[in-house]
Amino acid sequence: MSLTDLAIRPAPARHDTPFARDVIEGLSAARKRLPSKHFYDRLGSDLFEQICDLPEYYPTRTETALMRDIAPALAEAALPEGSVLVEYGSGASTKTRLLLDAAPRLRAYVPIDISLSALEAASAALRRDYPALRVEPVLADFTAAFELPASARGRPLTGYFPGSTIGNFTPAEAAGFLARARRRLGPGARFILGADLVKSEHTLVAAYDDAAGVTAAFNRNLLGRINRELDGDIDLTAFAHRAVWNRAESRIEMHLASLKPQTVEAAGRRFHFDEGETIHTENCCKFTRESLAQIAAKAGWSVQDLWVSPEPEFAVALLL
Ligand SMILES: C[S@@+](CC[C@H](N)C(=O)[O-])C[C@H]1O[C@@H](n2cnc3c(N)ncnc32)[C@H](O)[C@@H]1O
Repeated sequence: MSLTDLAIRPAPARHDTPFARDVIEGLSAARKRLPSKHFYDRLGSDLFEQICDLPEYYPTRTETALMRDIAPALAEAALPEGSVLVEYGSGASTKTRLLLDAAPRLRAYVPIDISLSALEAASAALRRDYPALRVEPVLADFTAAFELPASARGRPLTGYFPGSTIGNFTPAEAAGFLARARRRLGPGARFILGADLVKSEHTLVAAYDDAAGVTAAFNRNLLGRINRELDGDIDLTAFAHRAVWNRAESRIEMHLASLKPQTVEAAGRRFHFDEGETIHTENCCKFTRESLAQIAAKAGWSVQDLWVSPEPEFAVALLL
């Protein structure tokens, strides 16, 4: 075998990765499911940025407008001189810039994300635009154990979790996540949480089932990722995107519905689908002021301040 052969031959798919294990477990379950954190490969992260600009997707522009208004107050209350801002699920770090502009004497910014491409692009852009800021990205799954960089030790730490990514957890998981973040950030930590509030079913469903089909492509990319990384043979056109409002659980659910009876192969296994059977791919829980305060309290935080945008309502909470 020549060196050229080695270079052009695709690496064999690994079926012992966290992604492969979740796919095997999730597609073998009686009610098929996949964790939403696996949406975010390079293409998934790019599609998410396109979703943020869609007319139907009100959360990003609503939260951004609210953050623009309250950034000075947040910086005053939560980002003292010499502190470190630790962002969970930072993506493109776009809204973060409003905090960075309002708190120029931050010691460092630590973006944490599972998506390498998003983390690299955001860190490079921030280093260019904020040359005096120490940017220390952490590639990690924030639901698992990870280390903060050394520069965060002994510093006042402020967590930031925007984008209503908290809604991807069930309420019990959200409380568990916030409790772990509280322990990780340590005594005296502050936490800025962006969370979407309950509103009309029409507005909610449109936000997750846009006319241009970008959210459908984002959802189906999970199947594309299985094909690319786990030797899958899934026909993406044989699955339909569904966004449904589950009122009892106060959440939008995203599903991929099989359009026919079919058997697919992935990660060295075969998985059968009945016609209409779905893979549950994401929850986006919607909160009330009360449910947010309850979850925070379960995790040991208390809501120090809560700002809510004009309709469509989106909340930013400062937790202490
Ligand atoms: C809904 S997007 C929000 C992005 C950005 N914070 C915003 O507000 O626009 C969720 C982000 O969290 C990241 N993410 C999702 N699950 C994650 C996990 N378990 N660990 C680390 N990052 C995760 C994704 O890669 C993505 O960048």
